[in-house]
Amino acid sequence: MALLPILCYPDPKLHTVAKPVPSVDARIKTLISNMLETMYDAKGIGLAATQVNVHERLIVIDVSESRQEALVLINPQLLWCSEQTHMNEEGCLSVPGIYDGVLRHDAIKIRAQDAQGQLREIEADGLLAVCIQHEMDHLLGKVFVEYLSPLKRNRIKSKMLKSQREARD
Ligand code: NI
Repeated sequence: MALLPILCYPDPKLHTVAKPVPSVDARIKTLISNMLETMYDAKGIGLAATQVNVHERLIVIDVSESRQEALVLINPQLLWCSEQTHMNEEGCLSVPGIYDGVLRHDAIKIRAQDAQGQLREIEADGLLAVCIQHEMDHLLGKVFVEYLSPLKRNRIKSKMLKSQREARD
């Protein structure tokens, strides 16, 4: 297993639209292990392949307290979402230190393959529903700060670029 470098906003590679995972083979299984290790090490609750610069439709999530309930979503498709939405404070491993409110559907239903390639349907609400919506956005090249006002987003962009410069110096 290995820790993978996480792309940081505003890296343009984060706006790449991911392609479907062609088959759940040894390569994908290694990627899943590495992404899980990277997510747990960074103390995140979700990580999309896009964030580790692999542009395929793969997500790992763990919203449990125990950090032992990994959920792997391959080629996820949204089947249904509730009309009801709510504002939730979100953060992202690609935008460290920034938290802000994003409107998300309360409940969703998706279809995805699991780590063995089995097709499953998953109904989610609460934090899991928010996390799945956030991670599925990454696969479409969308980072949560893009829901914020241009003013806020530009402020975040400058802050990120400044801290990235400082980290290099
Ligand atoms: Ni994120």
